[in-house]
Amino acid sequence: MTPQQLHADVSVWDADAVSSAQVSSTVTVTYGHGVDGLPEFPGDAVRPQHLGGRLFLQICGDDPAAVRDAAERLRPDGRLRWREQGFCNADRTNGLGFQDGIVVPKTAAEFEQEVWLPDGSTIAVVRRIKLDFAGFAALPVSAQERVFGRRKHDAVPLSGGDEVDLSAKTPDGEYVIPADAHVRRAHPLLAGAGLMLRRSYNYAEGLLFISYQRELKTFVNTMYRMIDGDALLRYATTTSSAAFRIPPLDWSH
Ligand code: HEM
Repeated sequence: MTPQQLHADVSVWDADAVSSAQVSSTVTVTYGHGVDGLPEFPGDAVRPQHLGGRLFLQICGDDPAAVRDAAERLRPDGRLRWREQGFCNADRTNGLGFQDGIVVPKTAAEFEQEVWLPDGSTIAVVRRIKLDFAGFAALPVSAQERVFGRRKHDAVPLSGGDEVDLSAKTPDGEYVIPADAHVRRAHPLLAGAGLMLRRSYNYAEGLLFISYQRELKTFVNTMYRMIDGDALLRYATTTSSAAFRIPPLDWSH
């Protein structure tokens, strides 16, 4: 529940354990064990090497040197499948210039309901998504905003106000938030899914999508709903995909 740190080193391994090591107290270390149940989705372009994996390691911090140092020390005993360096922009925009991570669980009650399993564990979905920066940038800003359903410069929903109003219509009877807008397609109400804690990072070629939720189907249902007609997917290709169980915090070590 602590704020998202600015830098991340994310890696997926064929390994079962990470040996302990002394790392900077400013970094956070999250690990998980691979779980089944994440399907291959239509449109995915994931090589076998980038699909699944037994161990997930996510090292985050505000100081990139401390993150790098911790990533060198915490080397799982096994084969690396893939690794990526992620970063947040100061204004929380992604590579397409839109603010991300707005609609997420925030209160302790929401975390209980949506993120933590009864034993304090959670399920992480990790997807490396290549984005067509140039193709998206070629759209006029008004068209970019219709892809997301929010304004570019201040993230206000196209329906106005603080919260996305999916029922708002123009005088001509058109939805203000288009039928294929990402915030409509991904909206928990329409996706028939719970809320997920999205903690994505930018990487050189796109978005390192990371979500935590107590049930894998929250992610899976949302993804299928997007595949049904989310304009954003025209600019996105998933090249790595996996799900992991993140064990509860263990203070005894
Ligand atoms: C393809 C790359 C993606 C980009 C660039 C992206 C970006 C965004 C942005 C800018 C927002 C609006 C601000 C916010 O509420 O945080 C948003 C909302 C959201 N996204 Fe994505 N997203 C991507 C993929 C996904 C995927 C794969 C999922 C899950 C299957 C997802 C789930 C959501 C959800 C649940 C919301 C909140 C919708 C709402 O209730 O308003 N996104 N995303």
